[in-house]
Amino acid sequence: MTGIQGESVTEVNVVPRDDQNVKKVLVTGGAGYLGSTMVPMLLDEGFEVTVYDCFSWGISPLLPLASNPRLKIVKGDVLDEESLKEVMKDADAIVHLAAIVGYPACSKDPELAKNVNVTGTKNITKNLKQGQRLVYASTGSCYGAVTGMCTEDTPISPLTLYGSTKADGEKLVRDVGGVGLRLATVFGISPRLRLDLLVNDLTNKAIKMRTFDLYEGSFRRTFLHVRTQPKLLFLPFNITG
Ligand SMILES: NC(=O)c1ccc[n+]([C@@H]2O[C@H](COP(=O)([O-])OP(=O)(O)OC[C@H]3O[C@@H](n4cnc5c(N)ncnc54)[C@H](O)[C@@H]3O)[C@@H](O)[C@H]2O)c1
Repeated sequence: MTGIQGESVTEVNVVPRDDQNVKKVLVTGGAGYLGSTMVPMLLDEGFEVTVYDCFSWGISPLLPLASNPRLKIVKGDVLDEESLKEVMKDADAIVHLAAIVGYPACSKDPELAKNVNVTGTKNITKNLKQGQRLVYASTGSCYGAVTGMCTEDTPISPLTLYGSTKADGEKLVRDVGGVGLRLATVFGISPRLRLDLLVNDLTNKAIKMRTFDLYEGSFRRTFLHVRTQPKLLFLPFNITG
């Protein structure tokens, strides 16, 4: 995997090599923006990967990988507990990405957002078995409006339904010993491309229209490259015991 550090490019592994316990990884939401970049990187590292996704955005981001014998693709809903239990049973590690993502999507169908983001996460935590590792892609949106830098000790105060459902999911994950990482806004090209994300949106406008409007130019936000997120999400798996 290639990561960017300052201005230089550094080679980094998706997962530290000393973690021999994790061989089979279940990625919920694996056909989405983050997942469709993460899954090929995990396969390149030698993992057996199962993607569990309802394919809201289609299956095409995963099609180039479909012939890989170490990839299993299962169409399913995190709200379908029986089917979820079945795919979870053999996993050494679960990366839970499936969600209704972002403020606009959650506002469009608040009930669905609460169901998928909270009940869907509960279905995973409820069925987690002893020894299985769970990592959850949470979001900086849990913080709400913060002056200065956020740390793990910064109290969370989500301003949107998206942020509050993700914060509820985080708590469920923490309660069963899983790890939630509050990712910054992701940017970069992925097989399932999201042009609604700020950097991607501005880049797209700059390329197509040669111009864009920058509102609140003095605001500061954190960003994370899409090819760096798999390394961060796999960091907790190095913690054994
Ligand atoms: N993209 C970002 O900037 C960002 C930042 C912080 C956190 N996150 C988190 O990362 C995760 C992935 O985000 P993304 O940007 O890849 O979004 P995405 O919408 O591209 O991917 C979400 C995936 O989840 C699947 N999904 C939705 N509902 C489902 C259900 N009921 N059952 C099974 N699958 C379902 C969708 O089909 C989709 O493939 C989310 O949990 C999100 O909250 C993303």
